[in-house]
Amino acid sequence: MTTTIAAPAAPQHRTHSGIRASLTVPLSATPAAAKCARQAIIAFLAGARRKELTDDACTVATELVNNAVEHAGGPIQLRLRLHGQLLCIACRDGDSARWPRISGDLDAWEEHGRGLAMIAVLARGWRARLAPGGKDVIAWL
Ligand SMILES: Nc1ncnc2c1ncn2[C@@H]1O[C@H](COP(=O)(O)OP(=O)(O)OP(=O)(O)O)[C@@H](O)[C@H]1O
Ligand SMILES: [Mg+2]
Repeated sequence: MTTTIAAPAAPQHRTHSGIRASLTVPLSATPAAAKCARQAIIAFLAGARRKELTDDACTVATELVNNAVEHAGGPIQLRLRLHGQLLCIACRDGDSARWPRISGDLDAWEEHGRGLAMIAVLARGWRARLAPGGKDVIAWL
């Protein structure tokens, strides 16, 4: 069986009250990566006492990670960081040539092309930026 987490998580940043404020999760570029991302988010937000963010964070991370797997490829890394009330979700992928773009008018029966639009609705904002070896697609909740 292939395991999705490729390496131990990096050392994590904690707040003065001992709550983990950031988490880095290496993911394999496979369809199993999104499930692994959701599991990490559920545990991270429970530990940070921010469970109310879980549903939206899992939906946003699922779309970001699936996009990285389907449209970019690895290495993929999910990073979570709490900045006060704000949760930053960043997905690093291995492709700096292709960029995310919200699809224009979609046929009602079109099966794909809605992931970024969902992120735009759920998140306070999102953007993509160049990163070493690829790019980060980042959303804030
Ligand atoms: N990480 C990424 N790297 C490169 N291109 C991306 C990335 N994320 C999105 N894209 C581009 O943006 C488009 C829109 O992404 P979006 O998630 O909205 O739709 P989709 O992935 O095609 O379909 P779905 O509704 O299944 O998510 C993609 O079709 C792809 O061309
Ligand atoms: Mg998508």
